[in-house]
Amino acid sequence: MHLARAADRDRVAPVRRRSRELSTARAGFFALAVALVWSWSASPASAFEPAINYQLHCQGCHLADGRATPGLVPALDPTLGRMMRVPEGRDYLVRLPNVAAAQLDPADTAALLNWLLAHFAASELPPDFAAITTEEVIAGRRAPLVDVEGTRAAVLRRADGGAR
Ligand code: HEC
Repeated sequence: MHLARAADRDRVAPVRRRSRELSTARAGFFALAVALVWSWSASPASAFEPAINYQLHCQGCHLADGRATPGLVPALDPTLGRMMRVPEGRDYLVRLPNVAAAQLDPADTAALLNWLLAHFAASELPPDFAAITTEEVIAGRRAPLVDVEGTRAAVLRRADGGAR
């Protein structure tokens, strides 16, 4: 009886050892997966300030000082601040194709837009301007603009009451 049990133990021991090895391997795999997901979600860009994100994601077209490239890229200037007088202007900003498609998370995009307005458009920002929120950026991503020029003209008509 004793002997038989000992023999059983010997037979099952390697199986247990193997399953221990397997669960160690599984734990290792799990740790690796967690590390990977963590490193994906903490995208490198989110570690940067808005000014750096501007350089990385926008400056290639808009240049360091936001000046226009005639016929290609409009200026980033106080006109944008004026557009923030009306809700349609906020909507326009977050739905711009290159804003909606920016490879940044929504919170970083909101911070970038608020930095951009303060940096290029402060002189015409309304005094009661409320910062663009992460939620507005998320909503903008769901509906990128198709007719940018037409929307821009409509926003300016609203903001200026017909002027410009
Ligand atoms: C590939 C070139 C390109 C990149 C990159 C780019 N933009 Fe633009 N941007 C444009 C063009 C072209 C327009 C004119 C509207 C359109 O065609 O989308 C524009 C328009 C704008 C406007 C509206 C200006 C106005 O007066 O109506 C803003 C604001 C803006 N971009 C912000 C950004 C921000 C913020 C980024 C970076 C996240 C960015 N852009 C990246 C090309 C670019």
